[in-house]
Amino acid sequence: MQQLKLINDIVDKSYASIQKLDISKIKKCKTDKTRPFLRYPGSKYNASKYIMPFWDSIEFNEYREPFLGSGAIFFKMPKVEYSWLNDIDDDLINCFSIIANEKTRLDLIKKIENLKPSKELFDDIKNTKPINSIDKAYRYFLINRMAYGGIMNKPNWGFHPTKSVQPDKWGDRIMQAGIKLEDNVKITKKSYLDVINAESNNKVWLFVDPPYFKADQKRAYAHSFNYKDHIELLNSLKKTKHYFCLTYDNCEEIKELYSWANIYEIEWMYHTANSKVASRKMGKELIISNYKIHQV
Ligand SMILES: C[S@@+](CC[C@H](N)C(=O)[O-])C[C@H]1O[C@@H](n2cnc3c(N)ncnc32)[C@H](O)[C@@H]1O
Repeated sequence: MQQLKLINDIVDKSYASIQKLDISKIKKCKTDKTRPFLRYPGSKYNASKYIMPFWDSIEFNEYREPFLGSGAIFFKMPKVEYSWLNDIDDDLINCFSIIANEKTRLDLIKKIENLKPSKELFDDIKNTKPINSIDKAYRYFLINRMAYGGIMNKPNWGFHPTKSVQPDKWGDRIMQAGIKLEDNVKITKKSYLDVINAESNNKVWLFVDPPYFKADQKRAYAHSFNYKDHIELLNSLKKTKHYFCLTYDNCEEIKELYSWANIYEIEWMYHTANSKVASRKMGKELIISNYKIHQV
């Protein structure tokens, strides 16, 4: 079992259990090389090194992700016995289901072979009305790869000729992801509450990544998540018998609402890029859990 040393400085005296997570002290643990096949606003791909100690500090044989998005943590973490992946977004879940099945996965890969990204293709595909689930996944995947920031809600053209993942790699991304999704992975389109509240005889770890509380993500997702939803989530996590690891934007309201749990602050640099500008931004988030992570 990996061990982790935290800087034990208390950030704010009113929240006794808030700690800063120092990336230089996190020992690497085993990870998987499979990459997410989608781009996604709020993806935890770049923050996964901070999540690592949370899965590495406990024993569990069932993984649940109630707010799946691109499933960055599912793909990064070595697979456990059972997984349950869920999101409320119908197109997203259809795409995951198509890729999880070997036959439909191969059909999809065949359909995207030799495609060249262009603004014309992007506009055409946006205007199509898919008639079956493979066409629906084809449309979703292509828009996602060509849209600015992978934003699927009112998407804008954003494919970059060198910085974006090139189409000759798309099929392989789908293949690798699909193989990992194949066995003992349940994929559902339910409310997150069903996934958190379902009991199990297994030892369950929930990785919970809801839309942000304050930071503007309204444009990012097809389904809005309002104050009432955030409070319902809080209440379900307070009651749960499962281990959970929850991520949020760093704001006072969340620190207060979760003062009963363990709160860790993280900061990391990430790149934003579109066809015109590339810049670096500082991400500030909270990771909240109902168990302590190992410290050296
Ligand atoms: C921050 S994103 C998750 C990002 C993901 N962790 C990743 O690495 O790509 C939040 C997700 O919650 C989903 N969502 C919003 N409301 C939901 C609800 N009531 N139940 C389930 N999923 C919901 C959105 O569709 C979106 O995909």
